[in-house]
Amino acid sequence: MHKQDFPLLTNTPTVYLDSAASAQKPQSVLAAMDTFYRTYYANVHRGQCHIAAQATDLYERARRTIAAFIHAEPDTVVFTKSTTESINLVAAGYERLLRAGDEVLVCIAEHHANFVPWQQACLRSDATFKTFGITSDGTIDMADFNAQLSPRTKIVAVAQLGNVLGVANPVREIVAAAHAVGARVLVDGAQSCAHMPVNVKDLDCDFFAFSGHKLYGPTGIGVLYGKAEALSELPPYQFGGDMIRHVSVAETTFAEVPAKFEAGTPPFVEAVGLAAAVDYVQDIGMETIAEHEQNLTSLLCQGLSDIPGLTMLGDGSLKKGIVTFNVAGIHPADIAFALTQDNICVRVGHHCAMPVHARFHQDVSLRVSFGLYNEPADVATFLTSLHKTISLFGG
Ligand code: ALA
Repeated sequence: MHKQDFPLLTNTPTVYLDSAASAQKPQSVLAAMDTFYRTYYANVHRGQCHIAAQATDLYERARRTIAAFIHAEPDTVVFTKSTTESINLVAAGYERLLRAGDEVLVCIAEHHANFVPWQQACLRSDATFKTFGITSDGTIDMADFNAQLSPRTKIVAVAQLGNVLGVANPVREIVAAAHAVGARVLVDGAQSCAHMPVNVKDLDCDFFAFSGHKLYGPTGIGVLYGKAEALSELPPYQFGGDMIRHVSVAETTFAEVPAKFEAGTPPFVEAVGLAAAVDYVQDIGMETIAEHEQNLTSLLCQGLSDIPGLTMLGDGSLKKGIVTFNVAGIHPADIAFALTQDNICVRVGHHCAMPVHARFHQDVSLRVSFGLYNEPADVATFLTSLHKTISLFGG
């Protein structure tokens, strides 16, 4: 679907099945950034000249576009450099807010970016780091979650769609339960925002983090949404230009959100590139993209189901665009090396999620992940190459 919009996929014979790591870029995103650099380029929120005014206007317009995409108000959307930085921003703030006896509750299936910052914040604040589990089909063990949750829980961290299991989590239910004990919830939307419609109002989460590069936008841009009161209680993450109200030798006071969290020159060209990516996916429709990727996922899982010795992490029927597995007796790196001879790109490793691999008694795995540009022919090419590889290894 729409493969012709992606120069890399039309200029090279690549079968790209690693969109969960980073998505390819459509021509419209490349053009938006190119035009910015060639036509309006000047620093934002500083200069008085006409191009600085145009650049600032485009940057703030990008904020409005991206906020509308997740159903948020523009002044609750902070630009960062990545999902990782968005989560670190919140965790660093909590490091100062947490007290001994407080608890942070994190799903065992989280990417390290939504796991380690919380573990470290707890270490530094003497709060207690706790995890809740998942069942063998890859869904959250809600009985365990509810058992771990208590009035001591100050924050719950969970992905909307896991980067290893590809299973959508019941975020609304988790948020409602967390709010009932007075905890806030941070949702990692790095994978979900490219695969399904996102509505932060509907989720009622306190924080939502995602990156540009997985959503067909540029690298170097991330987004942190936060409810106004949740963001305002956090201390600034970094200090520097544009995040202050007044500076003197005696004291510095800080700007309002979102400027309070945007110290220094922000990634404004990248913000405009991300807004172009959002326009692009919205023109196609997130529901259409979700349905298309669901069909590809079903096709792949069906094709994998008769391979002897294949172990999938989680239940294939629950997966959305991300499928992770191992084949007995063949290291996934060997499979990936063979696949790349056929120009097929997949990811091998622990996918920055060691605890979930440990849960499934695996060290590493092979991951196939789809983008809107993949087609049933890509699945067929992958399956043919995989069968060929397995037979070469004597499987
Ligand atoms: N977080 C990205 C992945 O899962 C890089 O591959």
